[in-house]
Amino acid sequence: MARPVYAHVSLVGVVVMLVLAGLGTLTYFPRLPSFMGLTWQGKLRCGGVGRPAIFWEMPVTPEQDPENAFPRERDLEIAVSRESDLRKALTREHYPRSSGYDPAWIVDVPMGPHPLWCVESLMEVMTLEPGMRILDLGCGAAVSSIFLAREYGVEVWAADLWTDPTDNWERIRTWDVADRVHAIRAEARELPFARGFFDAVVSIGAYHYFGTEARYLAYLLEFLKPHGSVGFVTTGLDHDPGPTLPPYLAERWTPDFFTWQSPDWWRNHWQRTGLVDIDRADMVPGGWDDWLQWLRACDLVDRGYAPDANMLEADQGELLGLVRMLAHRR
Ligand SMILES: C[S@@+](CC[C@H](N)C(=O)[O-])C[C@H]1O[C@@H](n2cnc3c(N)ncnc32)[C@H](O)[C@@H]1O
Repeated sequence: MARPVYAHVSLVGVVVMLVLAGLGTLTYFPRLPSFMGLTWQGKLRCGGVGRPAIFWEMPVTPEQDPENAFPRERDLEIAVSRESDLRKALTREHYPRSSGYDPAWIVDVPMGPHPLWCVESLMEVMTLEPGMRILDLGCGAAVSSIFLAREYGVEVWAADLWTDPTDNWERIRTWDVADRVHAIRAEARELPFARGFFDAVVSIGAYHYFGTEARYLAYLLEFLKPHGSVGFVTTGLDHDPGPTLPPYLAERWTPDFFTWQSPDWWRNHWQRTGLVDIDRADMVPGGWDDWLQWLRACDLVDRGYAPDANMLEADQGELLGLVRMLAHRR
């Protein structure tokens, strides 16, 4: 008859196992729940090389040590509800691809209007084929560049003047598109690329900073293949208001605003060069609303900009909105 095999478990072994399990638990749950109005916190620390020791810190209140104290439940509730408000504010049926992205990431570095909504509204009229070489001109935080690479399978040169390409490179790497998005600092008027290199130029919220100069389009087209396209969406006016501006615009009218033009203005500006055929010159449908909604969403995480939001409120979509232009090189 087979004899049962008994494991020999020594008392020392049990004690060692219990100690290890305890340490593991404390390491894994270094913070304890709040008790009697205090937020308790414990941290394991090994002190002194070659002389390991464990310290159990005294409990702290958030007031005593705001940086290390575990947030109160109320703070957590607020954070969760803010995140859900943010997601709600930035989800639009009309822009399904954008809705798949973390809203906290999108609002992290707000610059112009919602960059992903702007790309989606441009892509309603522009076609990019996978593998194309795209210049994202004035890409800011490269949010649009990452989106273009991921959603449309293109290779993107994310060029910007003010944003540090190292910061953009970090963002690009976290999205796993490092092989398809190239961060570069570039002045739009001195582009460091080979002539005829790009299949298309895309520009979001930026083209008006440099593109109103009469010779600029001719210069930019040099970097495009024949029949390559240029498309942008940027802030602008539905129509020319004439020399007298409504007060809510007049009070904000500084040189950066002088370049806010209408689709008709851009159409003439491009058409008279004789270098392109215009495929689209219009206002993004619902662009005024998109822009205001974006600012309200940014406001939820204290990144709004009240002067712009107030200006849009005052305008009620009469003049302000997003201009959309698309043309291809002859
Ligand atoms: C309002 S931000 C928009 C950024 C980004 N495309 C977005 O939608 O979030 C305008 C961008 O235009 C860029 N820009 C302005 N003038 C430029 C120039 N001359 N050359 C290159 N980029 C320029 C700035 O660096 C800035 O990032």
